[in-house]
Amino acid sequence: MSKNMEKIVALCKRRGFIFQSSEVYGGLQGFWDYGPLGTELKRNVREAWYGEMITDHDETAIPVGAPQAFQMVGLETSIIMHPQVWKCVGHYDLFHDMMVDCRECKARFRADHVPTSQCPLKPSKHPGEHDNCNLTEPREFNLMFKTTLGALGGDEDAVFLRPETAQGMFVNFKNVLDSSRVKVPFGIAQIGKSFRNEITPRNYTFRSREFEQMEMEFFCHPDQSRRWYEYWRNRRMQWYLKLGITSDNLRLREHDADELSHYSVGTADVEYAFPFLNAGEYGELEGIAHRGDFDLRSHMKGKLMEDENGCLVVELDEHGKPKYPGSGRELTYFDDQTREKYVPHVIEPAAGADRATLAFLCEAYDEDQQPDEKGKLKVRTVMRLHPRLAPVKAAVFPLIKKYGMPEKAIEIYRELKGAGIACFYDQQGAIGRRYRRQDEIGTPCCITVDGETAQDGCVTVRDRDSLVQERVPVGEIVQTVRERISG
Ligand code: GAP
Repeated sequence: MSKNMEKIVALCKRRGFIFQSSEVYGGLQGFWDYGPLGTELKRNVREAWYGEMITDHDETAIPVGAPQAFQMVGLETSIIMHPQVWKCVGHYDLFHDMMVDCRECKARFRADHVPTSQCPLKPSKHPGEHDNCNLTEPREFNLMFKTTLGALGGDEDAVFLRPETAQGMFVNFKNVLDSSRVKVPFGIAQIGKSFRNEITPRNYTFRSREFEQMEMEFFCHPDQSRRWYEYWRNRRMQWYLKLGITSDNLRLREHDADELSHYSVGTADVEYAFPFLNAGEYGELEGIAHRGDFDLRSHMKGKLMEDENGCLVVELDEHGKPKYPGSGRELTYFDDQTREKYVPHVIEPAAGADRATLAFLCEAYDEDQQPDEKGKLKVRTVMRLHPRLAPVKAAVFPLIKKYGMPEKAIEIYRELKGAGIACFYDQQGAIGRRYRRQDEIGTPCCITVDGETAQDGCVTVRDRDSLVQERVPVGEIVQTVRERISG
């Protein structure tokens, strides 16, 4: 089935996954709110990522494909950081897109999006094609949101909302080393909001102005960095496959050599065939980058630039002083076994929580034909979310609202809740409609208390995907649901 983005967007609104931010005031472009179900789904995405990176990581074992065992720690850093951070790593000077304005209609476009954007004066045309269009030459536009610190608000008080979470981990490299006694190789991971003043936010939540990143900085010996790069590239690809993205819709695209910075061994993007793209096109879900020692060196010495030989050197101002001086701190690592001191190289898998959530929603959307109560074939919309990601794991229904069925169903509902399983109780409407309401939000199991339950002590457990219904003793219901959602 080729997926229809409009239907996915409509379902997300109707069932409370995603809403336009400030919708009552007409919305704010590039900002989104997650509804009750979307909040649970995104929380599950974050937890799956954090579990993979930190909670479930066994530092005493060598994971399959890894060069050796390693440690992983979490971090949570501030959104507003010292402005020198962004000056030293280049965002202040270089983090911009080229934009084009229309003097006639005042619309703004990213220069590279002009050929695919709609002219606001005539949507069937592209900007520049209408007789009245009056476009400016492409101009630089910094993507960082600027705000002001303190009450005075001069230019020297300007600070920025972080455009990536990564720098919070680099500037805390030494703090983490000193406080948690980790040894290279190790990773620091965090999940948090990032902000980019995208010129043309588009494609639903794909390109937003406020979004959440799930990033990890893996510090390793420079001689080992190629092996770690390959390890993390492959491992990150597997994460999406494990959570239900089919390999047909996913690809790992290695950047061409001419796309790489000279110090980088490689960068690869995990890409997904989002339904809003043309057939054969893919959108970035995550980038896995070899960043060399660029960030740690920048924070030690100051903003770096490439010299004529392609080597990284400190950029100087007109007085021959560093244009943006670094912290002057020693962000090196001393290996007390080999007695070697070095600046570690870094492999960075940088994922987007919103993009991953959107990909899981798109992948899950499906329609099939199922007989209704009268045996007539009807289209069923079903979200085939991986059970780990599904916002509701089990729904509990009494078949009818009498003969003690609601009481028994509530008892089961409470038992599931007590076991920490996200579940939902519903006694409204025909049973078929209740099943379909759950299919539409991706609930893997529906449990029905019926007339037989009082006699045989069993309930019916219906599987969302196979639609198979099985009788299960009430005493085994928690275990059964756990087994079904643990996949
Ligand atoms: N620290 C490296 C870094 O930030 P990036 O490729 O710019 O790299 C990493 O961002 C991930 O963050 C992307 O692969 C994407 O999933 C997410 N992301 C970036 N910009 C985004 C935006 N405007 N809206 C939603 N997600 C975005």
